[in-house]
Amino acid sequence: MKKKILVTGGAGYIGSHTVVELQNAGYEVVIIDDLSNSTIEVLDGIEKITGIKPVFVKLDLNDKAGLRKVLEENKGIAGIIHFAASKAVGESVQQPLKYYRNNIVTLLNLLDLMPEFHIQGIVFSSSCTVYGQPDILPVTEDAPIKPALSPYGNTKQINEEIIRDTIYAGVPFKSIILRYFNPIGAHPSAEIGELPNGVPQNLVPFLTQTAIGIRQELSVFGDDYNTPDNSCIRDYIHVVDLAKAHVIAMDRMLENKSEEKVEIFNLGTGRGVSVLELINAFEKGTGVKVPYKIVGRREGDIEKVWADPERANKVLGWTAKESVEDTIVSAWNWQLKLQERGIQ
Ligand code: UD1
Repeated sequence: MKKKILVTGGAGYIGSHTVVELQNAGYEVVIIDDLSNSTIEVLDGIEKITGIKPVFVKLDLNDKAGLRKVLEENKGIAGIIHFAASKAVGESVQQPLKYYRNNIVTLLNLLDLMPEFHIQGIVFSSSCTVYGQPDILPVTEDAPIKPALSPYGNTKQINEEIIRDTIYAGVPFKSIILRYFNPIGAHPSAEIGELPNGVPQNLVPFLTQTAIGIRQELSVFGDDYNTPDNSCIRDYIHVVDLAKAHVIAMDRMLENKSEEKVEIFNLGTGRGVSVLELINAFEKGTGVKVPYKIVGRREGDIEKVWADPERANKVLGWTAKESVEDTIVSAWNWQLKLQERGIQ
């Protein structure tokens, strides 16, 4: 029988790509999403790719009674992948309580109900933001956690602690915490991708929107960093590679292969790419020029960070496979698809 997985935030960017990979791997998926930063049409994209429309429930996970009802009505959920969260760093500084509520209370509700419904494991979406500016690069999972620079970053740190404390208290489930580096790109079919609300805060959606003419010019934040071309360096990972790691993590928990009750893995390529290199890769891969100007630093930005993905490579048997060129071209194909659909 197919195992059932609850994917919170399954209509979102990383969530939808993961639902596709779960369904391709034979899992049955139930999505809970409040559609606060996604649209219901994403389900059509998932169906076009996989031939299966997942079960969907529109719910804010702060509603614990509502969550209980979903678990009662969808008996036999074996595992949870928890993506649902607010993720805009700047907004989190303006509205911290929104972030503490949306990103923490929701996790508490899930953890509270897991034993009652015999759910065996939870995969949690964390971020390399927990490392701040690491002292040693590439950064391993054992690097110290640095003070968070925003309420958003703080919620990721607190969530990791909540999961660890809960599991070490002896609950009957396991967890795998995945620390993402910078997910970009879209499914090769261009049926699903990233659809930011309003003006994108992240580099790649801003870049593709500029290249297609929605935005006039891309601002490159900072040209005085201690890096070879003086722009910031990140580890950009194809969202499909990232999604596949979630399936492996879920298999691992459900097949009782975890070595510890809580395991933490970096999900990155191990390759640092600067902002200017990424723009170059885009122009080379697509033949489209991106108008850009160099401006001052953005507050709170880390100078450089890239992953040591060895633990995930060895223990999970997972490696990020896509090149940065193919990844950025997939983001462009998605932008072209949005234009075709008349979405600006
Ligand atoms: C940020 C968060 C990360 C969070 C992610 C999700 C930090 C340190 N990181 O990642 O935790 O998970 O957002 O939203 O808070 N850039 C430009 N011009 C732009 C936009 C970005 O030059 O218009 C540069 C930035 O300076 C940075 C790089 O592009 O060097 C990537 O930025 P972005 O895509 O926003 O991701 P992070 O800041 O790395």
